Amino acid sequence: MNSQLWPVDLGPVVCIVGARPNFMKMAPILRAFAANHPAIPTMLVHTGQHYDKDMNDRLFVDLRLPHPDINLEVGSGTHAVQTAEVMRRFEPVLDTHKPSCVLVVGDVNSTLACTLVGVKKGVPVVHVEAGLRSYDRGMPEEINRVLTDQIADLLYTTERSALGNLLREGIAEERVRFVGNVMIDSLLSNREAAHAPEKTVSEAGFDAAILSGSQGYAVVTLHRPSNVDQVETLSPLLGVLREVSEKLPLVVALHPRTRSNIEKFGLGQLVSSERIVLLPPQGYLEMLGLMSKARLVLTDSGGLQEETTALGIPCLTMRDNTERPITIDQGTNTMVGSDRMAILDGVDEILSGGGKCGRIPEYWDGHAAERIAADLAQWLIARHLKEKK
Ligand code: UD1
Repeated sequence: MNSQLWPVDLGPVVCIVGARPNFMKMAPILRAFAANHPAIPTMLVHTGQHYDKDMNDRLFVDLRLPHPDINLEVGSGTHAVQTAEVMRRFEPVLDTHKPSCVLVVGDVNSTLACTLVGVKKGVPVVHVEAGLRSYDRGMPEEINRVLTDQIADLLYTTERSALGNLLREGIAEERVRFVGNVMIDSLLSNREAAHAPEKTVSEAGFDAAILSGSQGYAVVTLHRPSNVDQVETLSPLLGVLREVSEKLPLVVALHPRTRSNIEKFGLGQLVSSERIVLLPPQGYLEMLGLMSKARLVLTDSGGLQEETTALGIPCLTMRDNTERPITIDQGTNTMVGSDRMAILDGVDEILSGGGKCGRIPEYWDGHAAERIAADLAQWLIARHLKEKK
């Protein structure tokens, strides 16, 4: 395609963000779409799934995301309520703006809700970060992934193993394109701007000297419902973290779900220690700075497994499975589940000089969003010309 202009009668790409892990994926996509030849017109729709300052506003600033064109303001709710409310509020957006396609990222409730609306209205849907599978249907994100991929029109993948997952589910290979990891685009383009960990910790009112002990420090995040929603699981996990804190200090960025459950179950004493720095959810640049200098990261997040692999920092994942196997096979990630001994052994191994070094996976090179832009422009324009014939 040689044309330098977007066809006048082809609508914008409606780009959806809803929750925190979507923002770092969408930022490089919007920039690449604007820089593409032809420039791809976009409209940014925020569903409002994450809404507060810590989970939302700070990340928009850090990632230089434009103000959303539309905010659906759905807020919190049960899965059914949240998904249904996004669908109900998103449908009129498509009626009014006649987009060329809907682009969704990741695996949150907003991803699936907007996919369902788009597909049922005959608007093509594009899914970025397709084909990841934990094979754990107890995870709400796994349901969102499987259903989104089944019905979306075009699927962009971050790692080669995703294609096999999609083929096993009967998805035609022509719908799938391996482009690499847009979240790593964000990481690479923001690395220089990352905040010093000492600054983050002292601004939160703690003594930054805690970071400079001989063992360094570990960064911790914990928010999966399976780890934090039951006292029987959360209490022992916090107990192990406290034991880990005797080996090296912990900097914990606490998700609102986890904070409220710690309060509800009366577990505050387990995390109250001068070796544990408890922070609210962090901005992107703070988190990047904290992780880059950490001795290790302990997490149950999806994104952090990939970010630590890109940074070369050992990661212990407190889950029994991962949808991101490349972080284990090639990266720095090790699965430790919620087992006390596995967690403590994992930490000891890293502290005694081991820990995985890993290597950077294919196409995690900072250019994934550009590959998506080039491919999607071609696909949309070709489709448009065919429809006009
Ligand atoms: C969601 C995503 C998950 C992602 C995570 C990152 C789904 C199914 N899950 O889970 O994949 O890893 O975001 O954070 O979409 N809350 C606030 N402020 C906010 C947003 C939420 O206080 O800005 C509170 C809510 O009231 C709720 C809790 O945090 O009680 C959980 O929020 P919710 O969006 O339901 O799911 P997450 O656990 O954040």
